[in-house]
Amino acid sequence: MQESVAGERQMKAGAVFPGKRKIEVVALDEPRISSPTEVKLRMLEVGVCGTDREIASFHHGTPPEGFDFLVLGHEALGEVAETGPAVSRLQPGDLVVPMVRRPCPHAECAACRAGRQDFCYTDDFRERGIKEQHGFMTGFVVDDETFLNAVPRELRAVAVLVEPLTIAEKALMQIQAIQQRLPWGDSTSPGKPSGYSQRAVVLGAGPVGLLGAMALVNAGFETYVYSRESIPNPRAELAQAFGARYFCSETHDVKQLASEVGNLDVVYEAAGATQTAFDLLQVLGTDAVYCFTGVPRHGEPISIDTHALLYHLVLKNQVILGTVNAGKDAFEAAIRDLRVFYQRWPEAVRALITGRYPIEEFREPVFDRSGIKNIIVLDGRT
Ligand code: BGC
Ligand code: ZN
Repeated sequence: MQESVAGERQMKAGAVFPGKRKIEVVALDEPRISSPTEVKLRMLEVGVCGTDREIASFHHGTPPEGFDFLVLGHEALGEVAETGPAVSRLQPGDLVVPMVRRPCPHAECAACRAGRQDFCYTDDFRERGIKEQHGFMTGFVVDDETFLNAVPRELRAVAVLVEPLTIAEKALMQIQAIQQRLPWGDSTSPGKPSGYSQRAVVLGAGPVGLLGAMALVNAGFETYVYSRESIPNPRAELAQAFGARYFCSETHDVKQLASEVGNLDVVYEAAGATQTAFDLLQVLGTDAVYCFTGVPRHGEPISIDTHALLYHLVLKNQVILGTVNAGKDAFEAAIRDLRVFYQRWPEAVRALITGRYPIEEFREPVFDRSGIKNIIVLDGRT
């Protein structure tokens, strides 16, 4: 460990300099607790995703005020190192997954004032590792207890998957809320005909897709994963291992998919691939919900048949929904469900993490798209 000129202990951080178009490991002073409800975390692991790739390609991401760089990392697992005097829920040694988004300052933003910054109206929220606040790809961070979620020890090896799972959990909660309009839609509802289950198609076999597919299987959906990679491939095998069926979009177009599946009750999109996403919208079923989670980045416009789209939307009682980020309820659901998934399918859950890198090599997993979830192992190294 080094010391800065001021005598502060220093730590390494994975940083992106948008102005200089540079990506490098920087040395930062170790942060200190400065308010009674704050917690100091020793970071253990940080997952890397497409958002980080966008930031590192200078398409997305904003440094905090006064900085010319942004520390990356929003999918994190840490261990409590120290707690402020008013911290009530956490103690040193606890494992925690921090939330990503921080509320905007505006009094009139009902969402942020209600602690639901994932529904922020003003766009002035901040996101750690993404928008105006440093992320977690470093040795230590300080954060308020409000934004930290305790994780059971038994999830130590896989808890870095909690944040990507929260995207699916928030989606699923909304889908289930909408499908309450169907007295037979919920697996627990008394109006459900015997043997009936809703069918869900997951578009994309990345971590958010596969974790979403696990959540759907676990919630009782007959689940299909639809993705580009031809069979056999590790993602298809993984999907099968936890009870989903895999279809390759190169060999099955959306009509063939729909004829295999039957009524597409739910589509959970997690690919950010506009063309396939809208192709799939054309075969969305009756009384169905289509949920978009993938952020499409800078592509050419595509054309869609708006007449058919509106016709089906109305005559088939369809709902199209977009969702971003996640609230406390989704973090809690993700922690609860990850524990269930890990008990049901321990190998499949572990197999989602395909690469581990030290912080000095953080650029590699950011740009290398092979593997499923690649992570940076920090493990208290500073
Ligand atoms: C993160 C979300 C975030 C979104 C947009 C995603 O990668 O998981 O928490 O809201 O990017 O910045
Ligand atoms: Zn992410």
